[in-house]
Amino acid sequence: MKKVILLVSSILCLVMLGSCGSEISKIGGENEDMKIGTAKRTKRERGKEDKYLVAYFSCTNNTKTVANRLAETLSADIHEIQPEENYTATDLEYNDPKSRSSIEQNDPNSRPKLSSQLNDVSQYNVIFLAYPIWWGSAPKVIYTFLESYDFTGKTIVPLCTSGGSGIGSSGEELESITNDQTNWLSGKRFDKNVSTKELKTWFSKLNIPKKTSQVTDISNFNLEHGKNGNASSITLNSGYKMPVAGIGTYSLENEECEDAILSALESGVRLIDTAYMYRNEEAVGNAIRKSGIPREEIFVITKIYPSQFDKANQAIDEAMGKLNIGYVDLMLLHHPGEGDVKAYKAMEKAVKDKKIRSIGLSNWYVEELEEFLPQVETTPALVQNEIHPYYQEKERSPVKCCCSMIFFIFIPHFIFYNKLF
Ligand SMILES: Cc1cc2nc3c(=O)[nH]c(=O)nc-3n(C[C@H](O)[C@H](O)[C@H](O)COP(=O)(O)O)c2cc1C
Repeated sequence: MKKVILLVSSILCLVMLGSCGSEISKIGGENEDMKIGTAKRTKRERGKEDKYLVAYFSCTNNTKTVANRLAETLSADIHEIQPEENYTATDLEYNDPKSRSSIEQNDPNSRPKLSSQLNDVSQYNVIFLAYPIWWGSAPKVIYTFLESYDFTGKTIVPLCTSGGSGIGSSGEELESITNDQTNWLSGKRFDKNVSTKELKTWFSKLNIPKKTSQVTDISNFNLEHGKNGNASSITLNSGYKMPVAGIGTYSLENEECEDAILSALESGVRLIDTAYMYRNEEAVGNAIRKSGIPREEIFVITKIYPSQFDKANQAIDEAMGKLNIGYVDLMLLHHPGEGDVKAYKAMEKAVKDKKIRSIGLSNWYVEELEEFLPQVETTPALVQNEIHPYYQEKERSPVKCCCSMIFFIFIPHFIFYNKLF
């Protein structure tokens, strides 16, 4: 019998704001900064590790001019998207339905080949994609470009030049061919004579997530985007998106666990929280594979336990093997314990090895964080703590970490049905 046990753990996300101070503050209850929507916005500064690329396609140099100015303004790298066969004036004849551009744009499967090659897209976390508008859309060569590389975890910002039309739905059309884990921002049309000042103003208003710990803005946390039982998502400091609600699997094992996860997935749940300690990683993995839902759509959290910290590399591989789903979306250290810093470093390496996408902590409170954070390089993408009306931990739970503008997410966890309803 299919049964979703207990209650789906709801996840409350709080974004850390603040200037450089040293104190990690505690939940105070009355703190206005805690409330989503009233959090103070600080001026976003570009993170040290952020690397931007301006990629552009241009036939008559309008887009090229804008792209060059933008790259210069942002100190970004620049890449020209060049088709194998250049477009002649005849090819660009938009009044001729038989011109090359007309034929390509009318063919949904057209993908003109590229002659230019982008070196190591993985080094960039933000890509500004510039193109001319052709009949309200992006030229098909931009589609070829997007399908040629893996933009998972990247932010893409479209921009265009045109004879007068706006950017319209060209950005959304392009977004539809990339995977769910690519973060698209709304684009803008620019005149070829756009000034540096105008570009700077536009850039300063973009909600670009930081690669490291510099997320200072909660505006990409938007519950309005959740629909039909599907949770909306938030972008972690790693650049990956995470649904804001999901199912916790503590105490579920074997077939019961598989059934619960399958049932949850059928109902639209896309975040699953498991752990070595729950003894159900295998069952979770089985359910995910059985569900037939594309892997990219599902976000899996697992945790390694203090008893595993001294052999963390092995523990990571063990979790990967049991889950057997290719990669782990988010791995946490389950509790503070001896060897936790070393275990965290092993997770950092696993991120580099592309086994894990994001890393974080669980059951780390103010004091533990104050000690732990200075010892590690990667700011945790998330801290998962038990918080709900029956377990408030007001004195110990961090909601604001000023030391490096850390981005935390709190999960009211294990809210038992019989206690609350
Ligand atoms: C095939 C084709 C179709 C075009 N369609 C539009 C259009 O729908 N709306 C518009 O405002 N401009 C349109 N234009 C004008 C271009 O968008 C504009 O000239 C652009 O700045 C050219 O950029 P480039 O110099 O980088 O190639 C079109 C141009 C071509 C060649």
